[in-house]
This record gives sequence, C-alpha cells and structure tokens, in this order.
Amino acid sequence: MRSIYLVGFMGSGKTSIATHLQSELKWTVQDTDQMIEDYYQMNIPSIFKEKGEETFREYETNILHQTNIKKTIVATGGGIIEKEVNREWLQTNGTVVFLQTSWEEIERRLVEDHSRPIWNNQSRDKQKLLEERLPKYFEVADYIIYTDSKSVEEIATEIISQI
Ligand code: S3P
Repeated sequence: MRSIYLVGFMGSGKTSIATHLQSELKWTVQDTDQMIEDYYQMNIPSIFKEKGEETFREYETNILHQTNIKKTIVATGGGIIEKEVNREWLQTNGTVVFLQTSWEEIERRLVEDHSRPIWNNQSRDKQKLLEERLPKYFEVADYIIYTDSKSVEEIATEIISQI
C-alpha cells in the first residue's frame, strides 16, 4: 500500500489526524517538520530566522524525498506544495489527501498559536497565501476532505473509507 500524504494549510489538522490514522491503520507515522528538525538539528523558527524561508524549502524537499513511500502516514508542512518538484513527487509517489479548511476556521484554531513563523509574521497576508496555495493543494490531491465541522475521528474514518 502506498503511503498517505496529508497536505493542507497550517491548522488543517494534519498532525492530529496522522496520529489518529496511525492507531486505526497501525502504519508508521512521519511528520516532515519533525524530520527537518531532527535531521538539521534546528527547530523550525530558528531555521526561518537564521537561514530564511528559501533554505527551509530546500530542507523540506530533501526530507520529502526521505519519507517512506509505503504503509506510512506522512503529515507534511503546509507549504510543501509550494515547489513544483514536490508537487510532482507527491503525485508520483503517494496517495495525497488534502484537508481543506476554511480561512475562518483556520483563524479560529490558530488564534493562540505563536510557534509557526509564517503565521506569526505580521507582515504576511495569510489569507492571501491560503488563496494562492489552494490550486496547488487541488493539483496534488487524490482525495479532498472538508474539515471545518468534523472531529479528528470523523475525518480519519472518512479517509480510511475513501482510500
Ligand atoms: C509552513 C507550515 C508549517 C511549517 C513551517 C512552514 C507553511 O507546518 O512547515 O512553519 O509554509 O505553511 P504546519 O502546516 O504543520 O503548521
């Protein structure tokens, strides 16, 4: 069985849904942000601050290529679809599930979040970023799940019934 790659904007629930799918499917879980931190021995905010976003995106591509392409649930970073090379790789190697969440719901979920460099960058228009990324999420998606009013359990069940 091909690995499942969860894609979606910050706050769409990729990490918690991956954990829930793990207990249902008994597959391995990988988290690209965690893998970046382990491999490069730096946390994500430090990478953004000291190396910049472009370097972070290079790290992200390198790590994506290191993920298991079989029987693994991979929670990806929200910007994994920014690079065309990543979109092509995802479409070739994985079953891609796009967790689609509305702007209003993302804002609600991340109101207390101070850990994500892009979310906390006041000079970035995050709503516009979501709009710009939407076609890229659609491009790679094999399945689309609307997450707004659903629990983690409901979303995991929906994913399992669709793949
Ligand atoms: C990012 C999302 C983050 C993380 C990094 C950049 C983005 O992951 O990869 O801060 O560009 O949307 P989450 O989607 O898990 O928050």
